[in-house]
Amino acid sequence: MPDKAKFWDKIAEKYSKQPIANQKAYEIKLDLTREYFTPDSKVLEFGCGTGSTAILHAPFVKHIDALDVSPEMIRIARDKIAPAEVTNVAFSVADMDSFQAQPGSYDAALGLNILHLLDNRMAAMGRVYEALKPGGYFISSTACIREKWYMRLLDPMFPLMNMFGQWPRVSRMTAKQLQADIESIGFKTVHYWQPGGGMVLFMVGQKPEQA
Ligand SMILES: C[S@@+](CC[C@H](N)C(=O)[O-])C[C@H]1O[C@@H](n2cnc3c(N)ncnc32)[C@H](O)[C@@H]1O
Repeated sequence: MPDKAKFWDKIAEKYSKQPIANQKAYEIKLDLTREYFTPDSKVLEFGCGTGSTAILHAPFVKHIDALDVSPEMIRIARDKIAPAEVTNVAFSVADMDSFQAQPGSYDAALGLNILHLLDNRMAAMGRVYEALKPGGYFISSTACIREKWYMRLLDPMFPLMNMFGQWPRVSRMTAKQLQADIESIGFKTVHYWQPGGGMVLFMVGQKPEQA
């Protein structure tokens, strides 16, 4: 098991029971995401956690490959499949820092609350770009903690919390920086939303039809 899975394995059970922080925004994101799905969509979700979002999207698409680095998160996700009567979601343990999909194999990719946690998000997003078909969508929602000046006060805390296993390594960026990163991969912004003007950026990028 990669070291980075340890933190998430430890908190998986608790994470699965936590209420969604902003239910209204979550539901809007579900609806917005579905605007980019068709019943034939083949979807990749990375950093899927305990699988709730994949299971909610399952009726709107053909198939979802949902991966997470934490075996515990995936165990909990798999346990949800039968009660939800979902047959088109495949959960697997994989590290998005090295995961390689077949090029041009997905219509959409979801990265929800994960980009700031990757060792190398540019490389990972590059592989997402390759994995998408021309015209495919990359839908992300990311905490951009540089959006709020007061979060800088926590700067000295992050390495310490990371060192003592209390928190994973977190990239600190603004929403505009993240958008620039996503666009520099080749995606065109088709939707940009910061719910309530807060720290989270929900963004949909499209791979050009003529890539
Ligand atoms: C903040 S949780 C978000 C879970 C889910 N996407 C959600 O929105 O509730 C971050 C998830 O990313 C996973 N994760 C962290 N690093 C990862 C990596 N390198 N590859 C795949 N998954 C990773 C963790 O195990 C955890 O389940």
